[in-house]
Amino acid sequence: MVHHFNVAAFGRENEAELVDRLRGITFTMSFVAVQSEAIVGHVFFSPVEIAGECAADLLVLGLGPVAVLPTYQRQGIGSLLIRYGLAECDRLGGKAVVVLGDPAYYHRFGFTTAREKGLGCEYPVPDEAFMVLELANKALVGYIGVVKYRSEFNECE
Ligand SMILES: CC(C)(COP(=O)(O)OP(=O)(O)OC[C@H]1O[C@@H](n2cnc3c(N)ncnc32)[C@H](O)[C@@H]1OP(=O)(O)O)[C@@H](O)C(=O)NCCC(=O)NCCS
Repeated sequence: MVHHFNVAAFGRENEAELVDRLRGITFTMSFVAVQSEAIVGHVFFSPVEIAGECAADLLVLGLGPVAVLPTYQRQGIGSLLIRYGLAECDRLGGKAVVVLGDPAYYHRFGFTTAREKGLGCEYPVPDEAFMVLELANKALVGYIGVVKYRSEFNECE
């Protein structure tokens, strides 16, 4: 069902196939918003590495993909999914979450420019598009370097 949702939401297979590939990997999390027994929103989290630090040492998660069906957008569903997901990341021991996206949207959840915390993105994106949220105060102190998503993301062009 999540696969069909992502195909409908993004209008292509890429994100749906990415989530399929990442399913089953330790520390991935998937949350859906349901209305009238249909999925109308979905958010996914998967572990990333900072300059080779492995997930067992410091659990940092990457947010995405996230989507809400067009007719259900701007009703707060995306915000609800993201806030719920961030709280679950915290509850399950995540120290921080990174996201690649529009700062105008993600700043409202507390994300700030990752570069200011010494974190770079492996992809050639503007600094302001790659953001981080520390779930615990100063959780990332001492951790600097390039953040790497799971290799499965490289297959999602
Ligand atoms: C991004 C997305 C998940 C937001 O879901 P949503 O349920 O519409 O979000 P909310 O209702 O919680 O928030 C709506 C607010 O976010 C803003 N917003 C939505 N998408 C935005 C974007 N891509 N960039 C900046 N602002 C955005 C809206 O303008 C609105 O702002 P306002 O509150 O000031 O009016 C949804 O727009 C979507 O599915 N987009 C297509 C898929 C996508 O681009 N996903 C992100 C990359 S994986």
